[in-house]
Amino acid sequence: MHLRTWRRRAAADDTSSGGASRSLALQQAEPQFFELWQVAVTPEDPQFERWAALESEQLEIGRRRVAEIERHVPLQGKDVLDVGCQWGATCIAIAQAGATSVTGLDVEEKLMEGARVRAREQGVEATFVHGFAETLPFPDASFDAVVCVNVLEHVRDHEQTIRELLRVLRPGGRLHLDGPNRFSPWWFARDPHYQLVGISVLPPGIGEHYVTRVRNFPSYDVGTFPVAQVIERRLKANGARIVWRSLDSGRPKLLGRVAANAKSALWPMFVFVAEKPGTSGS
Ligand SMILES: C[S@@+](CC[C@H](N)C(=O)[O-])C[C@H]1O[C@@H](n2cnc3c(N)ncnc32)[C@H](O)[C@@H]1O
Repeated sequence: MHLRTWRRRAAADDTSSGGASRSLALQQAEPQFFELWQVAVTPEDPQFERWAALESEQLEIGRRRVAEIERHVPLQGKDVLDVGCQWGATCIAIAQAGATSVTGLDVEEKLMEGARVRAREQGVEATFVHGFAETLPFPDASFDAVVCVNVLEHVRDHEQTIRELLRVLRPGGRLHLDGPNRFSPWWFARDPHYQLVGISVLPPGIGEHYVTRVRNFPSYDVGTFPVAQVIERRLKANGARIVWRSLDSGRPKLLGRVAANAKSALWPMFVFVAEKPGTSGS
């Protein structure tokens, strides 16, 4: 799923010469949201049309993503949290899938304002909260399902974030956690945020220096890319049971372990579905 999403994104970049029509497409499809979006992503940003191209696809990507998530994480009739929800596209799709309540959280307040407008424009109810994944502003056991998509590589502390994602889950609840895998040659050749060679493996300080000082991008908002095997170990160490992972090789026994390890290390995207032990009281 996610690899296809990133391929589509890459394709959108490759057609950026025709991209001027993409901001128009976004404006026509979501006029109220576009008003806020275009202020937040200034037209002077060298990647403006690229962002417009990506954003104009987000509601549809959100719907496809939620259909995939629902294969392992029940959402209908559930209280659902989306951590690092950006402009709220996945939250909107979760609400449309019949969740009882949807809460989106992101570290950027301007994104939350845009997400509120976007949800209203799409006619769905969702709550958007400003906050940090590392210190979620919710009591223990607040949600039946937690979704965290393409966010871990942006947070300061992977381990603390994983603890928090599991803390706010109710017993028996499920977490969908995915993101780009650090040592994948795919991202080494072209990182998903700035389309540059080699920065997916750099420590954040050096990455920031290279992207902003050497390549002159206006800002750098990526931290450390996670390593799938480490994330899996942290989920288990925090008591979660892995109920599904995207990285199983499906190979016969002898080659199975080698193939599984290689795939875990090198595959572009990891997806884990983890369950918090216990029985849901709700
Ligand atoms: C690549 S975007 C992913 C957005 C969305 N989940 C998706 O896949 O379309 C990463 C998001 O994480 C947010 N973010 C970064 N650090 C965060 C943190 N510490 N806590 C919560 N959100 C954070 C960013 O503001 C951004 O909206």
